[in-house]
Amino acid sequence: PAISAVIPAAGVGQRMQADKPKQYLRLHGKTILEHSIKPLFMLDAVKHLYLALSPDDPYFSATGLTDERLIRVDGGAERVNSVLNALQHIDATETPWVLVHDAARPLVRREDIELLITRCMAVGHGGILATPVRDTMKRGSQLVQHTVDRQQLWHALTPQFFPTALLRDCITRALAAGVTITDEASAIEWANEPVLLVEGHSDNLKITRPADLQLAAFYLEQNR
Ligand code: CTP
Ligand code: MG
Repeated sequence: PAISAVIPAAGVGQRMQADKPKQYLRLHGKTILEHSIKPLFMLDAVKHLYLALSPDDPYFSATGLTDERLIRVDGGAERVNSVLNALQHIDATETPWVLVHDAARPLVRREDIELLITRCMAVGHGGILATPVRDTMKRGSQLVQHTVDRQQLWHALTPQFFPTALLRDCITRALAAGVTITDEASAIEWANEPVLLVEGHSDNLKITRPADLQLAAFYLEQNR
């Protein structure tokens, strides 16, 4: 299929406590943003990449990232607003499918993205990369109320892959209804549309706190 990619990269990285947004920190000589985008560029089916950046981003030009498929758009107040703004730039007839991938996930593998696309195409609807929860999960605040059955619990990763028009429509409606949207799938679920779970590698972590950078460097050093 013809696919557009959306990369939300307009966050400030508050939890990372660095001197610049985390997507511009370096990992093995390249910015995290470059690592995160690279596997998307490698896919021929990806016709355009919409990169949502803060309107006054002073760091992007220094990355040297240029490609005729790359289109810079403005980010918004929250991740969902950045994604929606990018979606509004896409011609859904030209690219009926969209991959959304965090700028802060530099370890995603090309094979996982290809698996996500193939599996979704096979069932004819959208889906997400996810990894099964391995820890014993508790619900509660001060005291444990109960143990949550982890058999059916997953960590949601990115990319997430959906029909372009459906995703734009669901996010728009969910936001208007005041629903909290933390990933693309949550808007699709809210509209009672199906979301396929596709198991990806669990090292596809989101760089969030300082220690994640060391962990990501370690994973990159492994020959994978
Ligand atoms: N993002 C975005 N626009 C926003 C907020 C986040 O495009 N208004 C992007 C981030 O750049 C990141 C992805 O969404 O690539 C995931 O968000 P998160 O990990 O929360 O990044 P930050 O918001 O930058 O970090 P923090 O929440 O610690 O400030
Ligand atoms: Mg955030």
